[in-house]
Amino acid sequence: MSVSWETLCQAMVRAREVRRLGGDARPLIADLTAMRSQGSAIPAFGALLDLVEAAVRGPVAVGQSGQTLDGRIATERGHSHYVNGPEALDHLHRLRALVDAVVVGAGTLRTDDPSLTVRRCAGDNPTRVVLAGTARIPRDRKLFKDDAAPTLVTGVDLPCEPDGDGLVDPRGVLESLSAFGLDVVLVEGGAKTLSRFLAAGCLSRLHLLVAPTILGSGRAGFMLDAVDTMDEARRFSSTRYDLGADTLFDLVPERLEPDEERGREISDAAVVR
Ligand SMILES: NC(=O)c1ccc[n+]([C@@H]2O[C@H](COP(=O)([O-])OP(=O)(O)OC[C@H]3O[C@@H](n4cnc5c(N)ncnc54)[C@H](OP(=O)(O)O)[C@@H]3O)[C@@H](O)[C@H]2O)c1
Repeated sequence: MSVSWETLCQAMVRAREVRRLGGDARPLIADLTAMRSQGSAIPAFGALLDLVEAAVRGPVAVGQSGQTLDGRIATERGHSHYVNGPEALDHLHRLRALVDAVVVGAGTLRTDDPSLTVRRCAGDNPTRVVLAGTARIPRDRKLFKDDAAPTLVTGVDLPCEPDGDGLVDPRGVLESLSAFGLDVVLVEGGAKTLSRFLAAGCLSRLHLLVAPTILGSGRAGFMLDAVDTMDEARRFSSTRYDLGADTLFDLVPERLEPDEERGREISDAAVVR
C-alpha cells in the first residue's frame, strides 16, 4: 500500500520526538525503510523521506530555490511569482509542512510580502523567521499580521549578534532556533540568504527546483565568492525527481577534506554583503 502524506507527516513528528527525547530511533528507522520499499504517490517522495530520515539523526537545514535553467530566481526588478509550475509549488508547501521553521531574508520580505504558510497540502504552518540586516524591517507585511504562525525576527526575537557588517552568522541562527525546539529548518531564500547559509556550511540538503525556462537576465540564485578554476566549484551528490515540467535536484554537499574546508571558510568571509 502506498505511503500517504499523513503517514509521512506523522513520521516527521516521531523523528522530532526521538531527537528531542533521545529515544530509541531503531523502530522509526525500520518504519522508514519499510515506507521506502512501499513507495508513495507523493511526488519526490524519496527526497521527503530522506529529509525525515536526516531529522531522526539531528538538526537539519534544507535550502530551497526555484530557478530557471540559467540560474535566475527572479526578474531584474525582483518579480518571482512564479518561476516554477504548480507541482514544484506543491513540493515547496510540503517542505513547509514538514519543517519546524522557515527562514527568509529581509529582501524577500520586502519584495514578495510572503505568507510562508502551508496552503497547497494538509499540514501545520511552520514558525516564520526573518533575517534582519541593516535596513528597517517593514512591520506592515502579511506574516506580522495574519496570526497564522509565530514570526521571529533575528536580533529582536532571536538572540543573534550581528557582526560589524550587520550580518548574523547562519550557524548562530540555527542554534538559536534549536534552543526554541525548532531544528528542522527550511531556508527558503532569497539568494543572499541562501548563499550565506551555503557558504557557512549550514545546509545539509538543497532542493533546487529547476523550471525549463530561460530568462537571460534577472537575479541569480546564488552569489558566492569567485573561484579561478572548476576544481574549486562546490559539488554535490544529486538525486533528480520530475515535478511536472520542472526538475527537483535533491542535493547533498560533498564533504570536504579538513584543509579544504578551512581554506573555504576563509574565502567565504568574502561572500557578497
Ligand atoms: N525563486 C525562489 O525560490 C525565491 C525564493 C525567495 C526569494 N526569491 C526572490 O529573491 C529576491 C530577494 O533575494 P535577495 O537575495 O535580494 O534577498 P534575501 O536573501 O531575501 O534578503 C537579503 C537581506 O536579508 C538580510 N539578511 C540576509 N542574510 C542575513 C544575515 N546572515 N544576517 C543579517 N541579515 C541578513 C539583509 O537585510 P538588509 O537588506 O536589511 O541588510 C539582506 O540584505 C526577491 O526578488 C524574491 O522574489 C526567490
